[in-house]
Amino acid sequence: REMNTLIELISLDEYERIKNRSLLEDGSHLINDGIIDYEEMLNPFGGISRAFYIVDEVLHSIIHPQKHKKVRRIKLNTLIDEQDIFELVEPDTSLSDVVLAKETSETLQNLMRQLDKEVINRLIEWGIKDKKSGIDARIIFYGAAGTGKTMTAYSLAKSLKRQVLAFDCSKILSMYVGESEKNVRKIFDTFYDLCEKTKTEPILLLNEADQFLGARSSGANSGADQMHNQMQNIFLEQIEKFKGVLIATTNLLENIDKAFSRRFNYKIEFKKPNQEQRLSLWKKMLPVDAPYEEKFDLNELAGYSLTGGQINLIIKNTAYRVAVREKPLFSLADFEQEIKKEKDASFDGEKSMGFLNK
Ligand SMILES: Nc1ncnc2c1ncn2[C@@H]1O[C@H](COP(=O)(O)OP(=O)(O)O)[C@@H](O)[C@H]1O
Ligand SMILES: [Mg+2]
Repeated sequence: REMNTLIELISLDEYERIKNRSLLEDGSHLINDGIIDYEEMLNPFGGISRAFYIVDEVLHSIIHPQKHKKVRRIKLNTLIDEQDIFELVEPDTSLSDVVLAKETSETLQNLMRQLDKEVINRLIEWGIKDKKSGIDARIIFYGAAGTGKTMTAYSLAKSLKRQVLAFDCSKILSMYVGESEKNVRKIFDTFYDLCEKTKTEPILLLNEADQFLGARSSGANSGADQMHNQMQNIFLEQIEKFKGVLIATTNLLENIDKAFSRRFNYKIEFKKPNQEQRLSLWKKMLPVDAPYEEKFDLNELAGYSLTGGQINLIIKNTAYRVAVREKPLFSLADFEQEIKKEKDASFDGEKSMGFLNK
């Protein structure tokens, strides 16, 4: 039946096709069952456009209905339970949900273009790129905590229609004490193993990779230093020969080891949001259907220097407080109380910045 829908869809003229858009929406049979797939591209106006295509295997079975190609794919979702290194993420935010500085989104757009299948195919056609090598990119997202690095990694994955295998790098030291080199290899080996078994190409996300990327110490140093250097060397080696899309996030700003900088082809900075960006963050995150006091003023809230992560937290905490009240009503004062708490709790050196901490 799906095949019929598909064939009907193909034979429609433009007008009819637009009328039948629901067939191509997320959750429709054609999309859900993997008969039609799409790529998302940022268009020059900042929106996202989708190009739909029939997946290779389906196309193959239409053209050669008698040949049954046997492909057995194990879903990543089932394989993931057998290991404790990665978390499997099915991204549900898209790039239009992220509020970013202009330069950051420009670099991201550029990156999206590089990862675009059409661009890749062009390069293969020209003989510049190897057909087998697929899409490769080694990316660093760097910037202060809570600026949206992880969220952007997920959103980028969603646009590229990929799943994410996420590794929390702070785990590395606790995995097997004293064997961090082995552990580094294990991350990559497990990743390749999972990719091989599923034949999908998830994005490898190395979250909070500060320990891997920090400047290596030189000269005479302790055994611990040496071990750390060794671990970083292995990491470097693995990065060097990595195939696929890898995103490392880090809070390090200046201190990224030069050797690493060179091996990543994209280094994207995440800045703390300015007033205007904070305003859109508040707008995006505040519950729409909640009651607000009459004099509630978003500009007032946007005046506080906070990251997206902090705004997210403050809204949640405030909502919990307001929800239990007899008459739940959001007031500016409620938020300001939570903002103060958040500011006091975070030692980010901004406390002395005067008016921001009324
Ligand atoms: N630039 C942003 N745009 C939209 N939401 C953001 C942004 N930055 C942070 N957030 C919110 O804060 C949460 C935590 O951000 P996260 O991506 O984990 O930050 P980081 O990885 O940089 O520490 C996100 O899930 C999102 O709700
Ligand atoms: Mg993060």
